[in-house]
Amino acid sequence: MSVQWFPGHMHLTRQAIAERVKSIDVVIEMLDARLPGSSANPLLGELTKKRPSLKVLNKQDLADPERTALWLAHYNAQPGTRAIPLDAGVAAPARALIAACRELAPNRGGMVKPLRVLICGIPNVGKSTLINTLVGKRSAKTGDEAGVTRTEQRLVLADDFYLYDTPGMLWPRIIVPQSGFHLAASGAVGRNAYDDQEVALELLDNLKLAYPALLLARYGFGLTAEALAQAPAEELLDAIGRQRGALVSGGRVDAQKAAELVIGDFRATLMGRITLETPEQYLQWLRAGQVA
Ligand code: G4P
Repeated sequence: MSVQWFPGHMHLTRQAIAERVKSIDVVIEMLDARLPGSSANPLLGELTKKRPSLKVLNKQDLADPERTALWLAHYNAQPGTRAIPLDAGVAAPARALIAACRELAPNRGGMVKPLRVLICGIPNVGKSTLINTLVGKRSAKTGDEAGVTRTEQRLVLADDFYLYDTPGMLWPRIIVPQSGFHLAASGAVGRNAYDDQEVALELLDNLKLAYPALLLARYGFGLTAEALAQAPAEELLDAIGRQRGALVSGGRVDAQKAAELVIGDFRATLMGRITLETPEQYLQWLRAGQVA
């Protein structure tokens, strides 16, 4: 089984983005720093490949800083691309984002050629939070409500800086099975698209190798890191269920409840700051997908 997510409606979004991109200077793609590769929609890359791109690794406060550094280096090595980490609710880094956009399009700016920026991202990645932060900051600083006007999907952040919201919904698109599990673990796809137990087992299999110390600190298990690496995920889930009292009559573990606990712990950062994939892993999955 894998995560099955067919949101539909992408055809109209594709057309609308293709139309909007014609008059755009820089594309901001918001990614979830815990799953940068999986939270990117490949359609966007396809539609905007001729435009300078700013990758925003949002929710960096929840992600593993070492892996965030790997992803930033990965994107910054691509021509016409810059990447920055962000916590969308904090004002100062949002200012850095505006400066980064200006650097990506040095020939734009000023009243004659205002900088036109398109902001995109899958639902729940933090786009509204970022827009609110950008708007709030400007109005708080200038005290001028009129300085920020919202016309349709356009935000005027400065006289020469226009931010356009994505037309339509840019749903996640699952192109490799691992991405489906990562999107499900993060809460980016609907609940009926996946099976909690399957997602929790994949998560435990991933974390026991990538973050053994965090897993042991949260759940104990009474295992060494070496033994943990060998332990089947089903046994780990069973131990977590037992430990947390997720039991059904007869003292058996309620695997569904245990799975929900594990997924909930991950989302709430209760195991620590975790990034589910590295650039190297993600590129390997893509290559394997192409071969298959
Ligand atoms: P969207 O417009 O892209 O759909 O996403 P939105 O801004 O609504 O953000 C989705 C959730 O992610 C919100 O949490 C928001 O607070 C949280 N979020 C956004 N950016 C960040 C970030 O940089 N770091 C962290 N830790 N969280 C972020 P929520 O639980 O849905 O709502 P609430 O907690 O704000 O009430």
